[in-house]
Amino acid sequence: MELSESKTIIVTGGAGYIGSHACKALANAGYLPVAYDNLSRGHDWAVKWGPLEKGDILDSDRLSELMKKYQPSAVMHFAALAYVGESVTNPLLYYHNNVVGTYTLLRTMLRHNINKFIFSSTCAVYGDPQELPLTESHRRSPVNPYGNTKAMVETMLEDLAAIEQISFISLRYFNAAGADTEGEIGESHEPETHLIPLVLEVASGKRPHIEIFGNDYDTPDGTCVRDYIHVTDLADAHIKSLEYILDNKGSEFFNLGTEYGYSVNEIIENAKHITNKEIDVKIKARRPGDPPALIADSSKIKKILNWKSKYSNINQILSSAWEWQKNN
Ligand code: UFG
Repeated sequence: MELSESKTIIVTGGAGYIGSHACKALANAGYLPVAYDNLSRGHDWAVKWGPLEKGDILDSDRLSELMKKYQPSAVMHFAALAYVGESVTNPLLYYHNNVVGTYTLLRTMLRHNINKFIFSSTCAVYGDPQELPLTESHRRSPVNPYGNTKAMVETMLEDLAAIEQISFISLRYFNAAGADTEGEIGESHEPETHLIPLVLEVASGKRPHIEIFGNDYDTPDGTCVRDYIHVTDLADAHIKSLEYILDNKGSEFFNLGTEYGYSVNEIIENAKHITNKEIDVKIKARRPGDPPALIADSSKIKKILNWKSKYSNINQILSSAWEWQKNN
């Protein structure tokens, strides 16, 4: 990084689950994270490591004001709608927010000569896997509107990078889970739809049972297998990505998973052990759009960015999430 480079980073969605953990990691690495968030799904209490600027990624005037005021050296873009089910029932909401919103953000950045971009992508860009583990070269073929919006932005980024208007890192997250190990922030979605927080809500008595969406998949125990990655490990990958693009090393796509798959049943069994509580289950029909198994090949990010997971043992993930849930 050049000495004159600004240490200020704009973090859209900085009040959200993954964005707030990235803000903490940025501050720990000596950057000033400026959280830009409309607070529609994020929380002002999660912004602790820099200023909160309220605003929407669809508002180009507000974005312009922000770029002028802070002159960031890069933008980390977390702000997005991210419920697969909601994207199926309301696709235009997703195309507007995730695609038009990101277009507006990119256009405003370029007008202000800001051209370093870190994008929150997803393994949902791959759709139903043709082979496992998934590598970055697997074809992009999403099976729901949410995945389509992320794939469209990736295409936009490739086209801009081809003419050197931008350099980007697109991080394809597998299943983000867990909470800050110092207990400062954690997951808080309304409504909550993710497996781990729901299982822990059953353990703490807030819900009567967990519904298992399908036990007749072609997997070892019949329930879906996912690659759960600790949110702090995800945040750390953002710092490494930032350093890579600030050093002008080019644009890349990286998978971010632990390369281990756990079934829904295994998550529930481990959660019983961690919480020391009974967890009642009800078997339900499959949830539309769920691939049987998603497991990352993360060798590319390990090799190029020297990233490795520190907290992503499933028991570390579950116990950090459990601590957060008990205390909040
Ligand atoms: N599941 C249940 N019961 C529940 C909730 C989930 O059985 O009450 C199952 C799901 O069917 C799935 C697994 O638990 O097999 C994990 O489900 P999550 O909802 O926790 O996570 P997803 O795998 O659906 O979604 C995550 C991200 C999305 C991203 C997707 C990519 O949250 O943003 O991975 O596949 F798009």
